[in-house]
Amino acid sequence: MRFQVVILAAGQGKRMHSDLPKVLHTLAGRPLIAHVVAAARAIAAEQICVVYGHGGDQVKAALSGKDLAYALQAPQLGTGHALQQALPRLTKAPVTLVLYGDVPLVRAATLQTLLDAAAEGVAVLTADLDDPSGYGRILRNKAGRMTGIVEQNDATAAQRRIHEINTGIMTLPTARLGRWLPKLQNSNTQHEYYLTDVIALAIKDRVPVVGIKAADNSEIQGVNSRAQLAQLERAYQWQQAAQLLDQGVTLVDPLRFDMRGALRCGRDVHIDVNCVFEGDIELADGVSIGANCVLKDVTIGPGTRIEPFSHLDGAEIGAKCRIGPYARLRPGTRLATEVHIGNFVEIKASEIGASSKANHLSYVGDSTVGRNVNIGAGTITCNYDGANKHRTVIEDDVHIGSDVQLVAPVRVARGATVGAGTTVWKDTPSGGLIINARTQEHRPDWQRPRKPARK
Ligand code: UD1
Ligand code: CA
Repeated sequence: MRFQVVILAAGQGKRMHSDLPKVLHTLAGRPLIAHVVAAARAIAAEQICVVYGHGGDQVKAALSGKDLAYALQAPQLGTGHALQQALPRLTKAPVTLVLYGDVPLVRAATLQTLLDAAAEGVAVLTADLDDPSGYGRILRNKAGRMTGIVEQNDATAAQRRIHEINTGIMTLPTARLGRWLPKLQNSNTQHEYYLTDVIALAIKDRVPVVGIKAADNSEIQGVNSRAQLAQLERAYQWQQAAQLLDQGVTLVDPLRFDMRGALRCGRDVHIDVNCVFEGDIELADGVSIGANCVLKDVTIGPGTRIEPFSHLDGAEIGAKCRIGPYARLRPGTRLATEVHIGNFVEIKASEIGASSKANHLSYVGDSTVGRNVNIGAGTITCNYDGANKHRTVIEDDVHIGSDVQLVAPVRVARGATVGAGTTVWKDTPSGGLIINARTQEHRPDWQRPRKPARK
């Protein structure tokens, strides 16, 4: 069945107390509305029309795709008025599914169930809430058929006792909208044009109306305040954590785990507390991630251990490596097997061969490092001349002492040893020892400067 989606996202979001449009606040690192667009794409909507009010340019900048269309709603006169603004943008797809830009966790499977139930009539996604206050209530007749939706403010005391609420998500027959929407009146307590009033119009026109209950109430929650956003963030993180636990991943504390991308794990992966995962991450069998690490777009080979407080971004790490604590791997880092990168070592755009080590306080950038290389503490590749970046090549079996500068472009050939404190400013032959000419003096009469004595 062909269908399209309209996302209502023009509401002000006053209770966020923010200059940012509400739907651009982030959940799991992505704008709320991006989650909704992803759900619409997952069920293959033929077009997704976003009704925006505030910050239209920002909303458009946050989304992209040929399947998107936009409609401005100004001023915001209610949900029915919002959908009316989208009318000129709608396609011929016979079914229009209405979603909210601030209800981010709705699942594709739920939307598919709703579409299937609707056929080409009206289907409303409802939920049973212990505390239904604030929501529109679902009215049903004795036979259980839906007869309407009444807003809290317009409801009688008896209607307010109904626990089945309108989530706002519904499907509508596109061809009818041109007649129904202009008929909506704002003669209600909020002086708004309620989309929910189309239910009565549908029944009058003998269009079938069904109410379908959501499987899980977290997927229908909206975000009106920062507290609700924080709650939904935790609900989402708990779902992600639960999936990983099911797959056999150890999360030392699933309540202290943050997924802001997609994480694929092999067997017996161990993740300690307070780690953040962004982008696409792949952890092979037996990988262990220490506490307080941030990983973004990283692949890690089997048996590798990442020690606490490491920040890894855009790195490919081989098997049986040991990284950190306090390591920083930047984009373009490629480590072969059994590489050791220790504390306060930064690696950028560099390949490091098998069994090589840089254990303390170093910067390795724009470099090719061979196998079995040892890079001593405080070694710096001086890759930047103020205008251009240059490469450093360190061949196999080189041993670099502490506090060495390698002024790129430069090559240290196979098997050489570079003495501590050396500045390597030209290519070296293989083997032997490289040191700068230097002297050491002793000045016995030299006096250390003293502070004047206090009076
Ligand atoms: C609406 C429903 C209510 C339902 C509730 C679920 C109506 C009349 N009421 O209530 O039955 O229980 O959602 O949360 O539909 N929006 C616009 N333009 C507007 C007004 C709203 O785009 O002029 C958008 C908002 O950005 C939001 C959505 O519509 O995404 C819902 O708006 P909100 O004000 O939260 O709806 P309620 O009136 O609380
Ligand atoms: Ca709301």
